[in-house]
Amino acid sequence: MVTGNPPLLEVPSGSFEVSRLPGEILDGNYNNQSFQVAEPIHLSLIVPTYNESGNIEKMVRVLTSLLDQALPNSYELVIVDDDSRDLTWEIAQGLMREYPHLRVMRRQTERGLSTAVIRGWQAARGEVLGVIDGDLQHPPEVLLQLLSQIDQGADLAVASRHVEGGGVSDWSIVRRFLSRGAQTLGLIILPRVISRVSDPMSGYFMIRRSAIAGQKMNPLGYKILIEVLGRGNIERIAEAGYTFQEREEGESKVTWRQYQEYIYHLLRLRFSTGRLGRIRRKLDFPIGRFIRFVMVGCSGLIVDMGVLYFLHGVLGLGLTRSAIFAGQLAILNNFLWNDIWTFGDVSRKQRQWGKVLKRLLKFNIICLMGLILKILLLNVLFNGLHLNPYLANFLAIAVVTVWNFWINLKLSWRVTQTK
Ligand code: GDD
Ligand code: MN
Repeated sequence: MVTGNPPLLEVPSGSFEVSRLPGEILDGNYNNQSFQVAEPIHLSLIVPTYNESGNIEKMVRVLTSLLDQALPNSYELVIVDDDSRDLTWEIAQGLMREYPHLRVMRRQTERGLSTAVIRGWQAARGEVLGVIDGDLQHPPEVLLQLLSQIDQGADLAVASRHVEGGGVSDWSIVRRFLSRGAQTLGLIILPRVISRVSDPMSGYFMIRRSAIAGQKMNPLGYKILIEVLGRGNIERIAEAGYTFQEREEGESKVTWRQYQEYIYHLLRLRFSTGRLGRIRRKLDFPIGRFIRFVMVGCSGLIVDMGVLYFLHGVLGLGLTRSAIFAGQLAILNNFLWNDIWTFGDVSRKQRQWGKVLKRLLKFNIICLMGLILKILLLNVLFNGLHLNPYLANFLAIAVVTVWNFWINLKLSWRVTQTK
């Protein structure tokens, strides 16, 4: 009599890289004799879950009955749960006795939909790697279409809401607008990737293992498909229409944070793949930090404008005095966020108050020098080249932003020190 629950899957760690062979050990030191390659199967379907206790049993039952017919003994379901408060992982673990093709991973130190999927693929044994939501909003029967498209030679098969037979149930106008807006933004920032599929936001697709094996991925947030499209070796892409269903139990975990992460993810892919990626690697330019620095700078712009309006527009203070005060507050705002976020890994090693004040002083001086540089540039572009004043101002800000970033990188936070 087997007592206790069957064992959970070991959680892979280290880089987000899928091995060429199922079960191959990637980060350790191994030679060909020492590592055990798991018995390959055809399909590994990852089901990322967070608080899906109301859906998971039906999900496993429906997927098993479908795949037992289509792929007898040649598939596995891999639930990757992020330590759900509602103990989804424990319910799934209990189901393993009844469903022999079910494997369960409980992550306790990492969180996030995209990283969950990749950790599942790293532990997977399939030649084909798939992902489907664990809340029954992705109709399971489309799996068979995706699988036959892969078997007919596609490297990637995506379930799409925006092709023949696709759609969403009764989504609000706001949700439709946000989804389409995110797609449009992706087409502007990363056209080479986002334009390749009709539904880049899809979280329902299958990929041939060889198309992503050995690629160091750097996933973020919800949109695992853009990471696969951005870093995989994908020649042939197929799509199958599906209608996004209404949830039966639980609720969506999408918050504003996922939208912010999506924008950051697009920018990071933009600067770390393709032509710009090659240039950046040559320059050894820390693009992740630079993107964060720019986002902090945007918040400073809002502070600057808001304080200027309050002092000059509401309190009636003189424009120059208001602008200086607003500018100084914006610099403090930027220092704070850069110290916490952009260069957090560096500043956490230099927490002493004296060091913080030293960084603040340097940051302030560099930004004030940047302000002088900006005014000079603005005059050259406006009075010398007769550019439109706002275009001239924008270009001057762009140049000064790179100057501010690079000098602060080398002087204020001295990233070189921690290398
Ligand atoms: N492991 C893990 N960790 N799973 C997660 C996490 C997490 O942090 N967040 C969400 N999930 C799981 C949910 O439990 C669910 O199974 C699935 O990921 C999707 O999460 P939802 O919160 O239900 O997302 P959605 O329904 O709003 O949007 C989904 O469908 C869209 C259209 O395909 C997501 O897949 C989106 O990425 C996708 O664009
Ligand atoms: Mn959902």
